[in-house]
Amino acid sequence: MKILAILAVLFFSIFSSSIAASGGRTCVIPAAGDGSDDSPAIREAFRECGNGGHIVFQEDKTYSIETMLQLHNLSSVQVDILGTIMFSTDVRYWIRHGSYFWFQNISIALEFSGDHITIDGHDRGIIDGQGQVWYDLALGIGGLYGRPIPFALRNAQNSVAKNFWIKQSGKWNFVIVESKNITVDNIRITSLSDDFQANPGNLGNTDGFDTLFSDNVRIMNSYIDSGDDCVSFKPAGSTNIHVQNLTCVNTAGIAIGSLGQYEGQFDLVENITATDITLIGSRNGAYIKTYNGKSVYYPPQGGGNGTGLVRNVLFKNFNIQNITASPVLIQQCTHWAGWDVPPCAEFPANGFTFSNITWTNFTGYSNPTVGTTEVSLVCSPKSKCTGLSFEAINVKPANGSATYSCTNVDGLDSSCKAS
Ligand SMILES: *[C@@H]1O[C@H](CO)[C@@H](O)[C@H](O)[C@H]1NC(C)=O
Ligand SMILES: *[C@@H]1O[C@H](CO)[C@@H](O)[C@H](O)[C@H]1NC(C)=O
Ligand SMILES: *[C@@H]1O[C@H](CO)[C@@H](O)[C@H](O)[C@H]1NC(C)=O
Ligand SMILES: *[C@@H]1O[C@H](CO)[C@@H](O)[C@H](O)[C@H]1NC(C)=O
Ligand SMILES: *[C@@H]1O[C@H](CO)[C@@H](O)[C@H](O)[C@H]1NC(C)=O
Ligand SMILES: *[C@@H]1O[C@H](CO)[C@@H](O)[C@H](O)[C@H]1NC(C)=O
Ligand SMILES: *[C@@H]1O[C@H](CO)[C@@H](O)[C@H](O)[C@H]1NC(C)=O
Ligand SMILES: *[C@@H]1O[C@H](CO)[C@@H](O)[C@H](O)[C@H]1NC(C)=O
Ligand SMILES: *[C@@H]1O[C@H](CO)[C@@H](O)[C@H](O)[C@H]1NC(C)=O
Ligand SMILES: *[C@@H]1O[C@H](CO)[C@@H](O)[C@H](O)[C@H]1NC(C)=O
Repeated sequence: MKILAILAVLFFSIFSSSIAASGGRTCVIPAAGDGSDDSPAIREAFRECGNGGHIVFQEDKTYSIETMLQLHNLSSVQVDILGTIMFSTDVRYWIRHGSYFWFQNISIALEFSGDHITIDGHDRGIIDGQGQVWYDLALGIGGLYGRPIPFALRNAQNSVAKNFWIKQSGKWNFVIVESKNITVDNIRITSLSDDFQANPGNLGNTDGFDTLFSDNVRIMNSYIDSGDDCVSFKPAGSTNIHVQNLTCVNTAGIAIGSLGQYEGQFDLVENITATDITLIGSRNGAYIKTYNGKSVYYPPQGGGNGTGLVRNVLFKNFNIQNITASPVLIQQCTHWAGWDVPPCAEFPANGFTFSNITWTNFTGYSNPTVGTTEVSLVCSPKSKCTGLSFEAINVKPANGSATYSCTNVDGLDSSCKAS
């Protein structure tokens, strides 16, 4: 009785506040509950209430998603996810039917587009990608075509996503594409493979957050346990993005790139801050990666010879535990195309400018079993690296003293001392 009363109050407060705010209709989405596809009912609800209304995925209900959802043309809509949205494991379907975006041929299973969209999981909503089938299938091929992305804001403006859990994504978890003025708050992301200990490779490309062609984005107060980049600011346009208070477990770190993957394309990553980041069991701290100066094979695995600019970046207050590579890193010649890629030195990245990039206040310790390089800044001889600085980097190496290595960085010698 008491529980019912509390639930009633809770529901009443959620509904009444949103209805009052939108002044529109409410659509409570039915869930068949028998494993049949709930996508048609979801599409219908967004058609009815996606404009000035309120849409509810009900608590304790599981919505089976067997067909791709492009929820477009939304405006001033409040979406409450109180239940679970669960994607089918029909790999044949998803490989052919995701919502396509050209960059790295990504394929999205659920995307929201429009203006003033608020998606709130009230600390209960779950989006379940049932990704194990994809981890098993993709073994070592991160870019395997068609791996579905379970949540995207795509061509969205002035929108908010908060308080839900994305689990077992088949690929990247939360993607922001061609969007502006987006706030992301209190998201939990976990992608864990059954087989991770025996075969760590099979979690590749399960990034936490990725931004592509987006401006003015805030991502905060979130927890990410996945196998690849915790957050990746991707080309060709990630601008004015602020990331704060994230805990990232078993990730590759906070990344810019990979840059320069598309020949003839100019990548721009500008005005980025990442502060108050805890990295546990990470490969890197905060890093930048670029392809080399010759395009070999095709994206998503191959590519190269793009150009670009990375400017005004601040990485601050990182607590890094058990890291296996470098807390502060710029690396060249990222490639996933195979073995016969020409050596890096033969075709160094050509036409990049990296400027005003700062790493400051990094504390923590390295994994005791591997040798790490505290600071490794390798720039291309054919690019410009200027105004790079790091201060108060105190990530304790396993044994001995910290090592520093810099190449082609303006103002720094090979041991990263002012020259
Ligand atoms: C969205 O709106 C645009 C322009 O108003 C229209 O051309 C398009 O068909 C609409 N798309 C959908 C899915 O309703
Ligand atoms: C992937 O993208 C490349 C361009 O980057 C394109 O040539 C190729 O056809 C795409 N593959 C698929 C399956 O769409
Ligand atoms: C950005 O989006 C938020 C949330 O929808 C909104 O309150 C704010 O007014 C927007 N800012 C601008 C400059 O439009
Ligand atoms: C940081 O985010 C976590 C959720 O991951 C939250 O519990 C905590 O209160 C946040 N800290 C601050 C200072 O906002
Ligand atoms: C790189 O791309 C440019 C065009 O953007 C082209 O002129 C040049 O030959 C390419 N370099 C190599 C090594 O393929
Ligand atoms: C980056 O920030 C500076 C200073 O606030 C601003 O002048 C510039 O326009 C911003 N760049 C972009 C691409 O928004
Ligand atoms: C350098 O980048 C930081 C972080 O984005 C920014 O606050 C600062 O204004 C930039 N400095 C210059 C000279 O642009
Ligand atoms: C350095 O970062 C840690 C978090 O990793 C924070 O607790 C501490 O206050 C920061 N120190 C300064 C001087 O800002
Ligand atoms: C560090 O990582 C290793 C695996 O590489 C693990 O065995 C060890 O328990 C971790 N240490 C801590 C303190 O988490
Ligand atoms: C650090 O020293 C310990 C004890 O001698 C050794 O077992 C370990 O392999 C060393 N680690 C590295 C990275 O050299």
